[in-house]
Amino acid sequence: MTRVWGPVVRLFHWALVVTFAIVWLTADELQRVHEIAGYVVAGLVAFRLVWGLFGSRYARFAQFLRGPATTLAYLGDMARGRERRYLGHNPAAAAMIVALLVTLSGTAFSGWLMEEPSRVAMLAGLPHIVTAAHADEEGDEAGYGEAETNGPLKEVHETLANLMLLLIALHVGGVVLASFRHHENLTRAMITGNKRAPGPGDIA
Ligand code: HEM
Ligand code: HEM
Repeated sequence: MTRVWGPVVRLFHWALVVTFAIVWLTADELQRVHEIAGYVVAGLVAFRLVWGLFGSRYARFAQFLRGPATTLAYLGDMARGRERRYLGHNPAAAAMIVALLVTLSGTAFSGWLMEEPSRVAMLAGLPHIVTAAHADEEGDEAGYGEAETNGPLKEVHETLANLMLLLIALHVGGVVLASFRHHENLTRAMITGNKRAPGPGDIA
């Protein structure tokens, strides 16, 4: 066995899973908890971006991010059942990680904008879709008016949140598939940090 995921990546991952579940379950139910947990998600993502630059070997974006050509070739190999084993994140997992982090950021950011309409006003340069949420907000002192809860910004927030569910399903599906293919429990590896030492043909 060899150490792949350090304590920081493992803590980050499971904290993100738990916090995301809280955010999802409290949406429209416990709004205060929803918002605070949403900010925690944003903080975790921001932290992960920094850790991706300065963290330990397999945590670094430079170690696992690949270009489109390599990623497509890897997906093609997967379809033919002959993809190589990566000790770190494989190219498809890496692309998924980018999608997850970007979508999480967008969801939290749209939630932050929506929660206080004056924030939208500050972003005068943003395209129509965002300002429209604020357009018929005039005179609504409380800030939690019709336009806010029914506006296009809410659509954006909910669409991104639903996209997250789709991405997570694909993410977990990918984890299960790769676990079978390479005869190792990747979920357990994300708990213990250890994976089977690289064999011939593996990419370490
Ligand atoms: C219970 C469900 C989940 C399981 C079993 C799981 C499992 C894993 C595993 C095994 C990896 C490593 C993938 C690899 O070997 O390349 C991983 C990475 C990752 N997962 Fe999950 N995951 C789950 C849910 C989630 C959710 C809900 C999110 C987002 C909200 C998420 C976000 C991520 C991210 C961002 C990474 C990259 C980790 C890093 O390098 O920091 N996962 N996950
Ligand atoms: C990754 C983080 C987040 C996710 C996945 C998420 C997800 C969701 C979902 C699924 C809903 C829809 C509830 C419904 O069906 O009506 C929702 C609503 C909402 N969220 Fe978030 N959210 C996140 C972060 C935030 C943040 C940071 C804030 C504000 C600080 C926020 C504020 C709101 C508000 C104001 C609503 C509308 C509630 C209503 O009036 O119906 N969200 N969110």
